[in-house]
Amino acid sequence: MEKFIIDGGEKLYGSVEIQSAKNAVLPLLAASVLTDEQVIIRAIPRISDVENMLRILCELGCEIAREGDAAIIDSKNAVSHEIPAVLTKEIRSSIFMLGSILTRFHRAKISYPGGCDIGLRPIDLHLSGLKKLGVEIVEENGYIECSAEKLSGAEVVLDFPSVGATENIILAAVKARGRTVIRNAAKEPEIVDLQNFLNAMGAKVYGAGSANVVIDGVERLHGVEYVPMGDRIEAGTFLIAAAACGGEIETQGVLEENIAALLHKLRENGCKIYAKNDKIVLQSDGRLKSVPIFETSPFPGFPTDMQAQYSALSCVARGTTLVIENLFETRFKYAGELKRMGADILVHGKTAIIRGVERLHGASVTACDLRGGAALVVAGLVADGQTAVLDLSHIDRGYGDFESKLRLLGAKIRRVKI
Ligand code: EPZ
Repeated sequence: MEKFIIDGGEKLYGSVEIQSAKNAVLPLLAASVLTDEQVIIRAIPRISDVENMLRILCELGCEIAREGDAAIIDSKNAVSHEIPAVLTKEIRSSIFMLGSILTRFHRAKISYPGGCDIGLRPIDLHLSGLKKLGVEIVEENGYIECSAEKLSGAEVVLDFPSVGATENIILAAVKARGRTVIRNAAKEPEIVDLQNFLNAMGAKVYGAGSANVVIDGVERLHGVEYVPMGDRIEAGTFLIAAAACGGEIETQGVLEENIAALLHKLRENGCKIYAKNDKIVLQSDGRLKSVPIFETSPFPGFPTDMQAQYSALSCVARGTTLVIENLFETRFKYAGELKRMGADILVHGKTAIIRGVERLHGASVTACDLRGGAALVVAGLVADGQTAVLDLSHIDRGYGDFESKLRLLGAKIRRVKI
């Protein structure tokens, strides 16, 4: 086990290079089995979710090589269509391997990815979409067995703009016979990145980023070398930390339009923010006024993946903030830990009321999930005294070199073995 020790109260200054987006790299890795030619993905982030996804590709029989920060995937000898249960448990997002394994092998077997730290995480939209493309699905003994002699294009209307379901259906449609149209598709930028990656492999995917995505099936896909988009959630986490602590930081590698909803709130808090190309500069005096309400919604709304971090900031803003979490059922687990640091936060169902306090004080707190863990780090950076953040395995799923990047900005944070 490891923990962070944070001595709070330092302002943050400097520039931080943002990693490739976890939620873009994971579907790109899934898509790499769609060709038997070599796929090179550069700037792979050093995070455990990516390592687990690479283990899944190995289990399928892919050969993985690492050259610097690139992953080279060669799936010509891939033979297995089954993802081991232990790996599905490790990483829920293995569910969108279904679409690419079905396209490659016309059958797939995966254990039912249960709920996780933030909610039930159903997959009904994934499965109903795949059925529309002609996939036969048997769910028994905790496994999902899929088969499809030939995948055929169809119109799929999603009841909810699910990111994973949109990606899974695209991956199953790229070599299907005919045209697939996804209506009410998720519009997240990571889906645009997947479209760009697939089209660079010779696919015909159009409309990603809008509610209607069109995929015309092609015969084959070829290898590709690709640099994924920057991680808008990592960038947002650093910007929130600087807003709460005070100072001036620049993030490199993420476009303003990809986190516009967050930047809008941070400006309301009193931060000055400038953006040019893929650089975002934030200035804060650390004395923020609260925003009366923020609620999470699918892109381009306020991202659920920044709710915990922004709630931590709201704990030290002047005034009261109403938080509404519309995406996941249990995404307030961090609240109890923030209370140990003196936060005034009342959670009721999918809402929380946060009354800003003058100061938080350091405490020993435990991360319960990835973004909740990041929120505890933000709180520790701004608190008086020393904070210990335990169970870093959650944070390490999505933030590479987190503490060293924060130290470069002036934070007093170190990782120690327990
Ligand atoms: C992706 O998860 C992200 N993960 C999540 O990021 C992110 O929070 C989420 O999208 C929303 O933006 C990856 O991209 C790997 P959804 P996903 O399907 O695809 C309901 C992080 O911290 N739903 O868009 O699982 C679901 O219950 C992670 O980086 C169904 O009802 O999210 C939820 O309420 C956490 N049926 C809502 O849709 C389904 O079949 C959003 O889920 C699928 C989803």
